[in-house]
Amino acid sequence: MANRLNGKRIIITGAASNIGKQAAKMFIEEGARVVIGDIDDKAGQATASELGADFVKVDVTLEESVKAFIEAAVQKLGGLDVLVQNAGLQRSGGVTEFSSRDWDALFAVNSRAHFFGVKYAVPHLRKSGKGSIVNTSSLAGQRGGPGLTAYSASKGAVIAFGTALAMELAPDNIRVNTICPGWVDTDFNQPAIDFMGGRSTQADVVKRIVPLQRQAKSEEIAPLFVYLASDESSYVTAQAMTIDGGVYN
Ligand SMILES: NC(=O)c1ccc[n+]([C@@H]2O[C@H](COP(=O)([O-])OP(=O)(O)OC[C@H]3O[C@@H](n4cnc5c(N)ncnc54)[C@H](O)[C@@H]3O)[C@@H](O)[C@H]2O)c1
Repeated sequence: MANRLNGKRIIITGAASNIGKQAAKMFIEEGARVVIGDIDDKAGQATASELGADFVKVDVTLEESVKAFIEAAVQKLGGLDVLVQNAGLQRSGGVTEFSSRDWDALFAVNSRAHFFGVKYAVPHLRKSGKGSIVNTSSLAGQRGGPGLTAYSASKGAVIAFGTALAMELAPDNIRVNTICPGWVDTDFNQPAIDFMGGRSTQADVVKRIVPLQRQAKSEEIAPLFVYLASDESSYVTAQAMTIDGGVYN
């Protein structure tokens, strides 16, 4: 593989670690220039220098922070072709015990932040004459599970947002797609694993519901980001793409 993203200018949030980091790595391997934005500036800086990307700190829950981040990133890149929104937050708990504070925290990172990113990136994508927006939802946004009501709702909103947005931006030749990973082996899921009763219970569930009988590695999710960022997907828009090892309905 090489040069599938030659010359593309890409912004990606939540890429200090795991799925986002692997996506940023593949973007660069495929010829793109990348600016990473994350709230974790230590890990974000380290990842950026390891991969050969730029880093700008952002808190995606704050509109002014996202605005400043997009402007700084576009200045570094000299324009924008692709916006990838991958920052996310996980909290789990039974619905009767769940706090409205945690509900709001999930919606601020997982849903509302996508609106902020789009609001400030789209004028730059329009200037480029075409573009791709890739948002990150989850299998939980399509089909939830116990302890995940708030997380699932916040990720489901991303899918609905992306579908409407794709309709609105199609005349500008800007495509919008949403990635819905199933179980990916990162620390991100610890709250959900705790709610399930620990690692061994989670391993049993994964064996039972995932035909491939294992979680994904971040490296196995990254190629879908590359495909949707690249011109190979030039006729693909308004899709929520599931990548979950074939989870049984
Ligand atoms: N791991 C999974 O099983 C799984 C499954 C489905 C979807 N996802 C989604 O994939 C994405 C990446 O998850 P991951 O497993 O790589 O976890 P991760 O924790 O490594 O990645 C999330 C990133 O978002 C950043 N972030 C959190 N709050 C932020 C904020 N306010 N501003 C800016 N950055 C912020 C974190 O610092 C982190 O780098 C998330 O959106 C998650 O919901 C993960």
